[in-house]
Amino acid sequence: MPELSDERPIGIFDSGVGGLTVMKEVMRHLPGENIIYFGDTARVPYGVRSAETVLRYSLENASFLVSKGIKALVVACNTSSAISLDSLRRDFPIPVIGVVEPGARAAAARAGSKKIAVIGTETTINSRSYERAIKEIDRSIEVTGIACPLFVPLIEEGWLDGEIVNLTAQKYLSAIINDSAGVLVLGCTHYPMIKNVIGEITGIPLIDSAVETAREISTLLADKGLLCHEGHVPVMEFFVTDSPGKFVRTGERFLEHPIERISKVTLPG
Ligand code: DGL
Repeated sequence: MPELSDERPIGIFDSGVGGLTVMKEVMRHLPGENIIYFGDTARVPYGVRSAETVLRYSLENASFLVSKGIKALVVACNTSSAISLDSLRRDFPIPVIGVVEPGARAAAARAGSKKIAVIGTETTINSRSYERAIKEIDRSIEVTGIACPLFVPLIEEGWLDGEIVNLTAQKYLSAIINDSAGVLVLGCTHYPMIKNVIGEITGIPLIDSAVETAREISTLLADKGLLCHEGHVPVMEFFVTDSPGKFVRTGERFLEHPIERISKVTLPG
C-alpha cells in the first residue's frame, strides 16, 4: 500500500511578524510540511485593539488561508487565539489550533507551586483566556497576568538585550520576581525573542507557547493521518497586507530562515 501523504499546506496567521516564532518551531517539528504564513502587517498590533475588532480580523485572515486550500490552521497570535478560537473552530471545517491552550496545558503540568504567571499583550491579559484555560485543568492553580505592551515595539526594533530592555522588563516583572510562581508563560509571539532577559530577571522557568503549539500540531496531524510524506522538500509561502520589505528584514531575524516567496494581498474585508 502506498504511504498516505497529504501535501496541502499548514496555514499560520499572526498580526505581523511575531507568529514567525511559532512557524520556526513548526518547521523544527515538521520539517517536510508546506506552510503558508499570513501576517496582517497593515493592521498590526492586535494587542491594543478591542475583542470585537480582533475577532473580525482573525476571521478574515482565516478565510484567506482557507481559500488557499490549507489542511490545518495555526492561530499563531496569542491575542487572536485568546479572542477568536471558538468562532474559528465553529466557522471552518479544518483542525484549528491556537497558542493559548498548548501553553496553558504545559504550564499546568509543570507548575509545581500551584502559582502561574502569564505575560502578554493588554488584550490577551484582559481576556483572561490563559487563566480560564489553566483553571479548566486545575481550579486550585492561582494565575497572575501582567500586560507588557512595550515589549512588542522594542523587539520589533531589534532591541533584544541591553539597558532599555532590561529596565523595561524589570519594571513590568518586579511584581512576580518574589511571587513564588512555579512557571512563567510567554503569552505573546514576540517574547521568546527576549526569553534570556526575562528568564534572568525573574529566575522563573519559562513556558514558550510557540514550542508547545508546534508539539501539539505535529501530534494532531499524525493522529488525523494528515502528515506529508517523509523526505518531502517543503515550500514556504508568505502573504502580508502591507509592503513586504520591513516584514522580510525583521522576519528573517524571527524565523532564522530566508523569506523568499512573499506577496502583498488586500483582504476583501
Ligand atoms: N502577535 C501578538 C500576540 O501574540 C503580538 C503583536 C500584536 O499586538 O499584534 O499577542
